[in-house]
Parts: sequence; structure tokens; C-alpha cells
Amino acid sequence: MAEIDARLREDVHQLGELLGSCIRDQRGAAFLDKIERIRKGAKAARRGSAEGARQLTATLDGLGEDELLPVARAFNQFLNLANIAEQYHRIRRRRPDEPVLFEARVLPELLARLKADGHGADSLARQIGRLDIELVLTAHPTEVARRTLIQKYDAIADQLAAQDHNDLLPGERERVRERLQRLIAEAWHTEEIRRVRPTPVDEAKWGFAVIEHSLWCAVPNFLRGVDSALHAATGLHLPLDAAPVRFASWMGGDRDGNPNVTAAVTREVLLLARWMAADLYLRDVDQLAAELSMQEASPALRAQAGDSPEPYRTVLKRLRERLRATRAWAEAALHGELAPPSAVLQDNRELREPLELCFQSLHDCGMGVIANGPLLDCLRRVATFGLFLVRLDIRQDAARHAAALSEITDYLGLGRYADWSEDDRIAFLLRELDNRRPLLPADFRASAETAEVLATCREVAAAPAASLGSYVISMAGSPSDVLAVQLLLKEAGLRRPMRVVPLFETLADLDNAGPAIDRLLGLPGYRARLHGPQEVMIGYSDSAKDAGTTAAAWAQYRAQETLVDICRRHDVELLLFHGRGGTVGRGGGPAHAAILSQPPGSVAGRFRTTEQGEMIRFKFGLPDIAEQNLNLYLAAVLEATLLPPPAPEPAWRDLMDRLAAEGVAAYRAVVREHPQFVPYFRQATPEQELGRLPLGSRPAKRREGGVESLRAIPWIFAWTQTRLMLPAWLGWETALNNAIERGEGERLEQMREQWPFFRTRIDMLEMVLAKADGAIARLYDERLVDAGLRPLGDHLRDLLSQAIRAVLKLTCQSRLLSHSPETLESITVRDTYLDPLHLLQAELLARSRQRENEAGGALEQALLVSVAGIAAGLRNTG
Ligand code: PGA
Repeated sequence: MAEIDARLREDVHQLGELLGSCIRDQRGAAFLDKIERIRKGAKAARRGSAEGARQLTATLDGLGEDELLPVARAFNQFLNLANIAEQYHRIRRRRPDEPVLFEARVLPELLARLKADGHGADSLARQIGRLDIELVLTAHPTEVARRTLIQKYDAIADQLAAQDHNDLLPGERERVRERLQRLIAEAWHTEEIRRVRPTPVDEAKWGFAVIEHSLWCAVPNFLRGVDSALHAATGLHLPLDAAPVRFASWMGGDRDGNPNVTAAVTREVLLLARWMAADLYLRDVDQLAAELSMQEASPALRAQAGDSPEPYRTVLKRLRERLRATRAWAEAALHGELAPPSAVLQDNRELREPLELCFQSLHDCGMGVIANGPLLDCLRRVATFGLFLVRLDIRQDAARHAAALSEITDYLGLGRYADWSEDDRIAFLLRELDNRRPLLPADFRASAETAEVLATCREVAAAPAASLGSYVISMAGSPSDVLAVQLLLKEAGLRRPMRVVPLFETLADLDNAGPAIDRLLGLPGYRARLHGPQEVMIGYSDSAKDAGTTAAAWAQYRAQETLVDICRRHDVELLLFHGRGGTVGRGGGPAHAAILSQPPGSVAGRFRTTEQGEMIRFKFGLPDIAEQNLNLYLAAVLEATLLPPPAPEPAWRDLMDRLAAEGVAAYRAVVREHPQFVPYFRQATPEQELGRLPLGSRPAKRREGGVESLRAIPWIFAWTQTRLMLPAWLGWETALNNAIERGEGERLEQMREQWPFFRTRIDMLEMVLAKADGAIARLYDERLVDAGLRPLGDHLRDLLSQAIRAVLKLTCQSRLLSHSPETLESITVRDTYLDPLHLLQAELLARSRQRENEAGGALEQALLVSVAGIAAGLRNTG
């Protein structure tokens, strides 16, 4: 077993002790003693000690009702503290003898490889300058931690950094310890579960806070690193306006299945973004105005500043006034419609030019060293965030647009759009798109739902182009879905091009994505409206929920290949937008490997992906970690663009076809066809109870019904809690074992060695199987499931064992993750804290189901805390 780094171990130990002392202060030594007995029992039980297991269950059974909540909280908080220590460990100061982290060397090493491969200096610099990576922050409800706690966690990480200096004086060390103790006490005495659902505006504010507290600082640092790697490799610098990575957002724009996101909310969020951006730049410009007291200036700057003795300050103060005016207007406009006065900044150019003028003048006058400080950082921020901070996407369900059009055609006496064939719909939409007269008569009275769709389109039309990203259509299937949105936007008065993006997210829709886009691109007039690349979104998690991960992964891959091909034929650039979550079942996985496993040609300098829920915190919540992740993105996209993986061999494709066909059949045989599956799912997992966790602003379901009506997130979330992790692996056991039985084992090994796509799939599968735990899942069955349904549970656990055996065989190991001992160790150390939470959760579920009417009490609170704790321990929610 790999040793966990002694420093990490020490940090975890220290945080645990400090938590213990808070618990003792509040609840006394006897209570702390119980926690210790539970922990030690769990640890011994994991090592196979029957005595340990007895001690664990006996102590848990002996808990009084009023002790359930604090016990759940203790283990939950401990797991959160362990996460903080582990996260901090990724960025702690490295000793000179330690190897440089992969994230820090990935770009210099790649540039060296590319040079050796014959890429010239100019072309490399151009490529990096042109990269177009967009990370789209979404409010997907998978962040269980409250914002107020996240702030305390960040502060704890700061103190770990502060104490990580050997030369601290004893008094200084003591003060750090006191601060840590205080922060942990604050966290312990703060409720970890939100009482009320956040509103979409709260969610958007949370996203802005990540920018304010982390990305605002990380982005210029990251670009400094890119610039110096580029310079070292090529002697060239990154252009001032280069923004290889940008940010977009769905927070306040994604209304798919979320009635709380209205046109008014979207408007408010757009204004808040402007307010926030102006406020952040004001802080920068204030600092610059204080620092740039220099006198000598270029003629160009002089022409602006007149004969002012401090020309830089003069120009910057003017900019400061405009930023103040912008901020004041955004604030006032939040309280009512208000035309912006002329001082309000409307165009990125107005922000950039004065700063660039100062920058150039400093360089011209021999003060490059001053120019390249905070002023350069500010210019980098302007290039990345601009005046609007993020580009807001809109997302709405295809069915809502079709319903709106049906209402309109019905009113006009044309029949019902929803009943028309695809050809008829297209003919109608094309005609109307070309028509100069409006489609909607003035006296048209829409239903509330259609009025909302139309109001949203009007907000889009009214907003500045640079403040918006794409209009994404969920559950899209055909060309008319795209044209329908174009027509509704036209009706709302949109006169500029906007990217209207179909999101393909079922197996059938992914299979049909190529033909649909082919037809769309060939429709008369469509290309003229396109302007820029054709964007297509691939939905990872809903397709996996529909078909299982084996078939979904292959369908996602093939759809991308076909789209690359079709767009090439039409001579249109393609931008693929990857909609994936954090967990494997939702297409998650390490970004670097994921990008390098995309089909060749699909990452041609462009890449758009969602960053969701808790992953935003894990990947971008602390500036140093954010910098590492931005490096990974940039290096992977550059590599996939310039050194794309080879196309798979025909024999690999054939085998993948078989795996997918058998995978989906095996998956659906359970999830769709087994008559007991839905009742089993409801009893064995906390699915119903999860809906009560006020995680996000949107409801857990699109409509009433069984598994099909459940969104992908609660579906995955429920199986994660019981550790069966079913959606992430079900189907692979059959697919892999059949192939092995057919004698195709060697080919599978070859695919794993030579085909990044397949390798990444198997790596992810292995990881999720290592987190799965059949014995824990059985505990839930024993406590919660009717006797008649239990055989199904046994069957599923048997399938889990088969999946594990197949992966072990394929990877030639006797234990999962033995080639990656650090990951394994990080998973197994958490079991000591997770096991008691699982036991408690099963018990709490049983009790709360018996007393259905008592929502909101301590029991329910303890249950929700156990959910949050397990999610924290597995570092993934849904
Ligand atoms: P959606 O996302 O339900 O918002 O389409 C699914 C997911 O990200 O898992």
C-alpha cells in the first residue's frame, strides 16, 4: 500500500484533533469517546476484525435519538476537513528535491515535444494565441456544501499554508493554530444543510464569487505561466489580447425544467454580471492609478492626457469615472428599466484602449518592467472576462419551443405545428424566417408558458451581443428544433446572429446527430444565418442514463466523428460543446485524459465544456488549484489539436459496436425491463429523500413518473449514496465478459494500450468500481428492502462482482487500482469515516420512512447530513 505523504497525514491528523476538541467542548468527553469508538471500530472492521464490526454496530445501536445528528455531523465534518487537507496538499510548497507536479510541467514538456515534431515557433505562438477554450459554469445541483462553509474551508486552507513554513517562530505557529481552532469551531457550530433552496440569482452570485475570489487572480497568473513557457520554447510572447480560456455561465440562463429561471431572472443576472465586472475592474484601476505616478509618456498618451504632470493617472482616473458610472447604472437598472447614460461602458474596446495606451507608453519610455506588472494582469483580465464577466447561455427544452409554435400556428389558423411532419415544419420555419412581416399579430395572447418563452427571447434580443453565449436546446433531435428557436428569436427582434445549439442527449438522438446537422447545413439560407462555427452540444449524462455508459460513450464518440466529417464536407467549422458532470456516470473524469481521448479532428483549437456544481469548487475554488486546472485544459486542447490521436482500427470499431450493443441490452434489461427495478430503486436508495435536500433552485424531476422522469443527477446521486454506483458500470460486465468468452480478450488489451478513448473508459470504470462497495449496498437492502425484492439486489451485486472481475482480468491486476496506489489509498482511508455514515444513513432512512409525517425534525436533519457527508467522502455528489 502506498504511503500517504507524511505532511498530508499530519495535516489531516491535526484538523481531526482540533475538531475533536470542539466536539468535546460542546458535548463532553463521553460523547467524543463514542465517536472515537465508532471510528476505531470502523477501522478495525475494514481490516476484517469481527470484534471491530461488533464495536461499531454496538456503539451506533446504543446512540440516543438526540445523538444521531451530532454523530453524523462529526463524521461529515471530518470528511470535509480531510478534503481540505488533500486539496491543499496539491498546491503546497514543494521541496526542492520533490518532482515538479504534472500540472506545472505539462505545457513546457508539450511545447518541447511539438518543437521536436517540427512545429515552428511562429506557428506554435499563433496556435496558442488562437485557442478558444470556454468553460461554462453551471448551477447543476451537485454542490452540497453551503457557501458560508466553503468560505471557512478556504480560510482553513490558508492557515494550512501559513503554517507550512519551517521558519515560523513559536508564537507565530501558536497563532496559526488558534486561528485554525477558531475556524473549525465556527464550522462545527454552523449548520451544514441549507434550510431553503437557493434562488437562481443566488446561484449566479455564487458563480460570480468564484470569479471574484479565485479566477480573477488565477487567470493572469496562469497566462504569465503560459507566456513564459511559450517564450522559453520559442522566444515569442503571448499577444496581449490572447484569451485561450474564457468563461461562460448557465447560472440564471438555464431554464430547462427549472420554472424558477424566468426572463426577469435572466435580465437581473446579466445586470449583476455587469455590476460585478465594473466593481472588479474598479479595484484594479484604483490600484493602478495609485501606482502609475510616472511622468514620461509617449506622444499617443500625451495626446489623451494633455499636459498633465501625471499622464497615466489622468487617463486612468477618467476610466475610473466611467467604471463608476457603469456600476452605478447597473445597480440602478436592477431596480427598474433605465437607459444607460453615455458614460456607461458598452464595449470592451472602451475598457481596453486606455489601459493599452498606458501599457504601450510605459514600454516606449523604457518602463517595461512597470508595464509588465499589475497593468499587464489587468489587460489579461480584460481579454478574458471583458466588460460582461461571463457569457451567459440560455437553455430551454425543445418541447417548449414546439409548444409555443403550436400555439401560434393554431391561433393563426394554420393547424398545430406539433402535429406536422418534420418536412412540413422545416418548410414553414424557412418561409417565416425569410418573411419580412412579423409572424405574431399584435392581439396574440399567449399562455403563461409560451409568454415566458417569448419574454426570454426578447431579453436575448435586448442584451448586448458580447454578454451572451449560446442558446442551447435540450432534448433536440431534428433540424426544425434549431430553426424554431431562430424564428422565435427573430420574432423577438433579434437582428444579429446568435449561436443556436442543439443538445443531443439520448442514444437515438446521438445516433441521428450527424444526419440532422447534415440536413440543417444544407437548408437554404441556414449558412447565411450561421456566422462562425456550427456548435453542437453532446449530452453525456442523459445519454448514459438512457443507454448505460458502454453504449452512450460509443455513441458520443461516433456522433462526434460523424459531425467532424459532415462539417468538413460542408466547409463549416465545428464547435463541440461537451455537457458533462463530475461523476463517471455523468461523463466525468480527469479533463486532460478526457480531452486527449476525443476522436481525431474533434478538438481543432476549440473546446467548450460544462463545469458543474461541486466540480467548480474542486477545480477552480482556490487560485492555485484553478491555475493548475487551466494549465491542464490548455495543454490538452493544444495537444489534441496538433497531435490528434490515431483513428481507431476497423477491428476495434467492430468490437466496440458489439460491446455497445450488449452493454445497452444488459443495462436496459435491468433498468427498463425488470419489473421489480423501480420499486427496488425506491426502497434501496435515498432517491425520494434526496428531493428534500435543497441543493439547487430547480426541481429534481421534470414531471411526475418513474426513472424516466428523474433527471440524471438524482439518478446518479442515489446510487452513489449506497455505493452500488450502478449507472456508471451496469452493462460493462456483460459486454466485457462476453468479449472475453468469445476469445477477444487480446484485442481488448490492445485497444486499451493503443486507443486513448478505450483506455480512458476502462480507467474511469476501474475508478468507479473501486469506489463501489457491494457490502455497503447490501446493508441498505437488509435494512430497507422488502424480502420479495431482495433477490434483485443480490443479482445486481453479483453483476458488480462480475464487472470487477472483468476489469481485473483486462488490466492484469489482482486488486483494483493497484497500479495507482495513491488514488486507492485516498479512497480507502475515507472508508473509516464513510462506513459509520452509511450505517447511520440506512438506519435513519428506515426510521424516517416509518414516520413519514415528521419532516424537518432532527431525524431528517441527520439524514440530510449523512447524505452530504457521503457525498463529501466520495468527493462526488451526483
Ligand atoms: P441536465 O444535466 O439534467 O441539466 O440536462 C444532466 C447532468 O449534467 O447530469
